[in-house]
Amino acid sequence: MSLFKIVFVFVLFAPVCLTLHQALKLDQLKTDLLSLLEVKEKPSVSRTRYQVPRYVIDLYRKQAFIDGFTKDGVAPGRTIRTFFRRPKDKRGPHKHLFTFNVTAIRKSEKVAHAELRIFKRRSRLKRCGYFEVTVSRLFRRWEKGSKKWKRKMEAIDSTLVKCRRVGEWMTFNVTTAVKYWAKYPSKNFGLWVSIRGHNAPPSDFHVATGGRKDPFLVEFGIDRAKLQKAKRVRVEEKSTKKKGKSSKEVDRNPTVDKKSADTSVHTRSRRSTSNLCKRHRLFVKFQDLTWDNWIIAPKGFSMYYCTGVCPEVIQKFFDPTNHAIIQNLLHHRYSKSVPAACCVPTKLHSITMLYFEKDGSIVLKEYGEMVASTCGCR
Ligand SMILES: *[C@@H]1O[C@H](CO)[C@@H](O)[C@H](O)[C@H]1NC(C)=O
Ligand SMILES: *[C@@H]1O[C@H](CO)[C@@H](O)[C@H](O)[C@H]1NC(C)=O
Repeated sequence: MSLFKIVFVFVLFAPVCLTLHQALKLDQLKTDLLSLLEVKEKPSVSRTRYQVPRYVIDLYRKQAFIDGFTKDGVAPGRTIRTFFRRPKDKRGPHKHLFTFNVTAIRKSEKVAHAELRIFKRRSRLKRCGYFEVTVSRLFRRWEKGSKKWKRKMEAIDSTLVKCRRVGEWMTFNVTTAVKYWAKYPSKNFGLWVSIRGHNAPPSDFHVATGGRKDPFLVEFGIDRAKLQKAKRVRVEEKSTKKKGKSSKEVDRNPTVDKKSADTSVHTRSRRSTSNLCKRHRLFVKFQDLTWDNWIIAPKGFSMYYCTGVCPEVIQKFFDPTNHAIIQNLLHHRYSKSVPAACCVPTKLHSITMLYFEKDGSIVLKEYGEMVASTCGCR
């Protein structure tokens, strides 16, 4: 147990030569991890993972492999947030008012898209027509029991749905409202859902509540700074890839290729020494950190760390920089006061996490440069 903690810290925070005695306590590790994940406090969650909407799980699977490795072609810096209605709205079953507290959206995030998803239960009527469902943004606070309260609002999206249809999800584009609320949180008075019947009585329109079919709001945000950085990195990667190094190929899809990457190092090094620079696998279960109640996916970090000796003459295989080759030669042939080359990650990969925020909303977020996909001498 304690060994993996040490190595874990080693992998995450120090891509340089480190010795194992630089260990941190478990609490310190947790604090550091939280800050790395940009989570201010470990959330105490009331909702369980079984209440996570299917749609959100599917979004996660589309973006990441089961071990959390981000699949290729996903927008870097993207954060997807899922909000649920405030509990008090649920108690009094207000058919029309839907409020979501979206203050969890950070200032650095640009709202790219947002949608309201509600599940329409099937009708009990035998013969009926259509419902026209309109979602509007309210301009003033709803007053419970007030006769004087007048709705003032702006329609933002509407959809036609067959009355008889078996239960189904309905999606409304509420981007303009969420953009507005992210900017002016005090003006968030919620959404108003109104129903018009076309050969169907509006009273027959029912929205499912509770469990996985509870109405929710999904917001797709882009972190501006990270997007810029990722664009730069991608351009740099392209220019190096053109040189056609075969060692670069293995990290395209680390989940599939990790075995071959490990074994190829292994077989080549078996004859001489087994302690040559290579990648090792390490799995850290969130259960061991008692984090499995708020981290929905993945089940843990599949970490890879680089350790081992860089040989006196560093072969191409270790993907060295010219600087590393020279420094290493100086170390071996001239003076031990010049440090030897280090076995470090030469390529890092992102992981995608799905977890609860403190306010009960769900975050799907990509974290860049979290795992080593190749090791080399630098
Ligand atoms: C959602 O609505 C906004 C504002 O009306 C619009 O710009 C955007 O294209 C819409 N998105 C989709 C996916 O329909
Ligand atoms: C919205 O959530 C934030 C953070 O959880 C909280 O501080 C704030 O009071 C909430 N706003 C409302 C109107 O409930």
